[in-house]
Amino acid sequence: MSKETIKIFDTTLRDGEQSPGASMNTEEKIQIAAQLERLGVDIIEAGFAAASPGDFDAIEKIAQRVEKSTVCSLARAVDADVKAAGEAIAKAKMKRIHTFIATSPIHMEYKLKMKPDEVIKRAVRAVEYARTFVEDVEFSCEDAGRSDISFMKEISDAVIEAGATTINLPDTVGFRLPFEIGAMVKEMSEYVRGRAIISVHNHNDLGLGVANSLEAVVNGARQVECTINGLGERAGNAALEEIVMALKVRNDVFSNFVTNINTKEIYPTSRLIANITGIEPQPNKAIVGKNAFAHESGIHQDGVLKHKETYEIISPKDIGLDLNDTLVLGKHSGRAAFKDKLSKLGFTLEDEALNRAFERFKILADRKKEICDDDIRALVTNEMTKA
Ligand code: KIV
Ligand code: ZN
Repeated sequence: MSKETIKIFDTTLRDGEQSPGASMNTEEKIQIAAQLERLGVDIIEAGFAAASPGDFDAIEKIAQRVEKSTVCSLARAVDADVKAAGEAIAKAKMKRIHTFIATSPIHMEYKLKMKPDEVIKRAVRAVEYARTFVEDVEFSCEDAGRSDISFMKEISDAVIEAGATTINLPDTVGFRLPFEIGAMVKEMSEYVRGRAIISVHNHNDLGLGVANSLEAVVNGARQVECTINGLGERAGNAALEEIVMALKVRNDVFSNFVTNINTKEIYPTSRLIANITGIEPQPNKAIVGKNAFAHESGIHQDGVLKHKETYEIISPKDIGLDLNDTLVLGKHSGRAAFKDKLSKLGFTLEDEALNRAFERFKILADRKKEICDDDIRALVTNEMTKA
């Protein structure tokens, strides 16, 4: 049976840039877009063209350079935004306009101060106008997570009729639980079946962005919006690397699906984003955190030395992390890990010398959280026989 492709829509350059402190200049954005293309993302949301001349300029330059990914600009459902988006991406080989308007009662009443009928009219106008620039138009029901499903069906009918090819259902405030997202996506994908692709865009306010995205895939979403390192408004967006690796590692569950992501580019992409934005993923962040492949306890180190898969479900090489040694030595490390580290550093110690060195290592580890290679070298200098 042929597999279905889950499109990966990366919004690091747009929603990701909305992380406090994550603004990037044009050169940096171009560099990131080139890396996202290498990573294999299907759609790069390069920015929000109407937001500023700088955003417009960056999107326009990205559109001229990227060849293998679709380049997309966000636009509110107003003519000026759609026009700016259309012009900024005009030179792209593959291009998309992503327009949105809020559909939840709270947003329509207090933010937009518009009646549902007016919201539908604005959405239809935006999509029709976007279609004068591009064939590929995405429409988002902002705050879908808190919207009435009957209203989303009504507005989807109208925008599909007007030419939208993707209907995105953002959980804008990260409020929904996986089973709720699953039910919403199932009902919406059965409703629009064959007329548009259903997409999700999950925020992480309850730490559920990735779980919600995976549940959406199982229930019919064929596009997932996400960011590198989970950057994004407030608590961020669903992390691309976690979604992609979950789909890959658990291909027993997701056997019908593939992505176009070259997972070996995940780690280099994560590092590029961290270096450019200055925002480091938390050390224990899944997949790309500094400790994601570090084994500190003696029992774990011993297990990994005997068979990697005792404590590793992903090979670091699969995400492009080339580690000669993922063992971090610290006070919980055992003799086996210490001996292994010595041999990797080119030292062989006889039993007695090894015991003495190990004792001194434990004393040092009590003072220092992590022991680096130079510490080990200094430690064994007096005991060693160079291999
Ligand atoms: O979170 C959100 O609703 C958005 C939309 C603009 C897609 O970022
Ligand atoms: Zn968002």
